[in-house]
Amino acid sequence: MSPGKSTILVTGGAGYIGSHTVLALKRAGYDVVILDNLVYGHRDLVEKVLQAEIVVGDISDRPLLDRLFQTKDIAAVMHFSAYAYVGESVIEPAKYYRNNVLGTLCLLEAMQAAGVKKFVFSSTCATYGVPDVMPIMEDHPQDPINPYGASKLMVERILADFDVAYGLKSVCFRYFNAAGADPDGLLGEDHSPETHLIPLVLLTALGKRESISIFGTNYPTPDGTCIRDYIHVTDLADAHILGLEYLFSAGNSEVFNLGNGSGFSVREVIEAAKLVTGKNIKVVKCDRRPGDPPILIGSAQKARKILDWKPQYPHIKDIVAHAWQWHQKRHK
Ligand code: UFG
Repeated sequence: MSPGKSTILVTGGAGYIGSHTVLALKRAGYDVVILDNLVYGHRDLVEKVLQAEIVVGDISDRPLLDRLFQTKDIAAVMHFSAYAYVGESVIEPAKYYRNNVLGTLCLLEAMQAAGVKKFVFSSTCATYGVPDVMPIMEDHPQDPINPYGASKLMVERILADFDVAYGLKSVCFRYFNAAGADPDGLLGEDHSPETHLIPLVLLTALGKRESISIFGTNYPTPDGTCIRDYIHVTDLADAHILGLEYLFSAGNSEVFNLGNGSGFSVREVIEAAKLVTGKNIKVVKCDRRPGDPPILIGSAQKARKILDWKPQYPHIKDIVAHAWQWHQKRHK
């Protein structure tokens, strides 16, 4: 199928990774309809920057979904909408299973009824739990340690079963730590509440926060702080276009890790932010955050090989610099 001839439904297209992917889809010539309940998404970015059609509503609203599929010529669905706060998922698991699992099931059933058979899904490295081999490959056992990761793993399982029973073809992307912002400064990360390391460090550099807390300094890592595989959000967006094209060229259902294959500690990220911003960033050492594995680094060799995906911005300095450009603009 050639781009521009059909419409892609993007759930959660007003959110962080979803909005960057909508930008990439539009640049690739696709028509896009966003479905977003705007609980966490940003209407201003959709209207002013993406200039995309948005339907404000919920993935669990079946009549709304049926109307959408009846009135639009939707060729595939990209599904970003989910609750994604790991800590909150431990305290309020019902919210996560209801939205992330039941909501997704409702969406998949509506697709099934409408005969739409291509699905790109935002999964996560949190499905692996505490891995025992690094870098993590896709066939590493999945044993999530929080309801967020479990909810995503349940959807992966549903997708495998829907393929067998109904011929639904899916690409599941297991993201490592999504970070950075559109290199042109059009879009970026704006969570409320914000819990992620890079935006919090940059908000500290901007003077919007007094200090950055390091959660744990006694991990079994070279500098004692947690190591993560930060992957640029624009590289994630590009992978989604490749995943979609893979499905359009009759690809079978697949799962892919998306990471850079290299890890940076919390202290290294803070040092990169000091260099990029030229600001002194006050650091406070704190206790470990429950549920944080010491090291998460992914191998994305499979995505490189099968999708020919090549991250354009693998360097932490670029990731932080693009995020800094965005935060300065957003918090003027
Ligand atoms: N961290 C701090 N101080 C902070 C915030 C974070 O030290 O103020 C540390 C965390 O403890 C962790 C690292 O920085 O070691 C990265 O934390 P983030 O909150 O930025 O990201 P997470 O690794 O916790 O979470 C991300 C995604 C989740 C996904 C998870 C998979 O946001 O959706 O990766 O492990 F599930």
